[in-house]
Amino acid sequence: MSSVQVRPAARVRGRVRPPGDKSISHRYALLAAIAEGSSRIHGYSTGGDCASTLQCLRGLGVQIDEIARDPVAGLEIQIAGRGAGGLRAPSSTLDAGNSGSTMRMLSGILAAHPFRSTISGDDSLTRRPMRRIIVPLERMGARIASSDGRPPLTIDGATRLSAIDFEPDVPSAQVKSAVLLAGLHADGRTRVVEPLPTRDHTERALLTFGADVGRDGAAVSITGGQRLGGRDLTVPGDISSAAFWLVAAAALPDSEVVIDEVGLNPTRTGILDVLRRMGARIDASHGQAFTGEPMGTITVRHGGLGEAVIAPEEVPGVIDELPVLAALATHGGGLQVSGAQELRVKESDRISALAEGLRRMGAEIDERPDGFHVHGGRRLRGGEVDAKHDHRLAMAFAIAALGASGPTTIHDAGAAAVSYPEFFSVLESLRA
Ligand code: S3P
Repeated sequence: MSSVQVRPAARVRGRVRPPGDKSISHRYALLAAIAEGSSRIHGYSTGGDCASTLQCLRGLGVQIDEIARDPVAGLEIQIAGRGAGGLRAPSSTLDAGNSGSTMRMLSGILAAHPFRSTISGDDSLTRRPMRRIIVPLERMGARIASSDGRPPLTIDGATRLSAIDFEPDVPSAQVKSAVLLAGLHADGRTRVVEPLPTRDHTERALLTFGADVGRDGAAVSITGGQRLGGRDLTVPGDISSAAFWLVAAAALPDSEVVIDEVGLNPTRTGILDVLRRMGARIDASHGQAFTGEPMGTITVRHGGLGEAVIAPEEVPGVIDELPVLAALATHGGGLQVSGAQELRVKESDRISALAEGLRRMGAEIDERPDGFHVHGGRRLRGGEVDAKHDHRLAMAFAIAALGASGPTTIHDAGAAAVSYPEFFSVLESLRA
């Protein structure tokens, strides 16, 4: 699917079970691979990024069987754990595709395996910064060659890693996770002190697989040498994928969408706070938690559309939702974001690509080094935009297009499959 045309919509109505959470799927697969015994994972993400993680693990000798595949329930997989230090040297380069999470978190594990492995990825991934994991993992004892701090990474794992105390320069769950996963294999207690809190799925997943993880204020710590055990797990739906429907319903008068079995981890629900501030009517009810991750149902209805400001402290909690929140602001209201310079090193430079695309559709948006300001109150006309091989931009442009006066053609729309292969068919099913 290279280009998709999206027509304006009067309203959206319906129920959706979003794909399995991408962040949690990666972590369950990685931990299952180094656990002792076999794990079953239900609701594993159907997106391309999580398939990249499985492909890399297979390249490291892990046996993974697909048990079932359903467009709503997602994937069910079985992973035969190889135990701590049990991965096998790969016979060729590992391909992380478009997935920064795969490359960064897997590097933390490979740092503790005494063989050489190379991880590469697509054009977008090979432009992304990796020094943020290279520095701490080298301090722990691994050797990592890169192309001036960018992929491909060639990792010479150490026989023994040493624990470190580490304060990352940027708030990043991927960096925290890479260091904690290396710390699981290191001598002593590894501690990561975060500049701002980020998603805590790795900490929760480690606990679920049987490891002890400490938290003291901004510090997370883990003692090396702990063993993980295989588990039977269910991945909740991805709130970052649900975000597109939450925003569509918030944007279009007379809309109502119910999201079932969606993850409600408080480090990920910042979008609900921002939507409420902008005027949407939202109910979130917690159901029974799935294996350590809160989960429930969200109902969203259109309210008014006001102007919102997102401050730097709030950014890590909505980092992946900023493109679709910018799309919401084009329906009315407005949005100002600062402290979000990390958006420039995501799957694309999301600040400039977002500004370029929304402007082509008729929006008024100021681009800033660390954020943007979308001026609401000006109806989009639609047009032609380029998703720049970025899944979240492809989907955010589609949600902006629903409020335009004319149709929008999104080039490279197939990029959505990285996290949400079913996105465009679900979009059609919600038109009412
Ligand atoms: C992720 C963390 C975030 C997020 C990414 C997924 C994760 O990245 O943007 O989509 O699964 O840990 P950073 O850790 O680089 O901020």
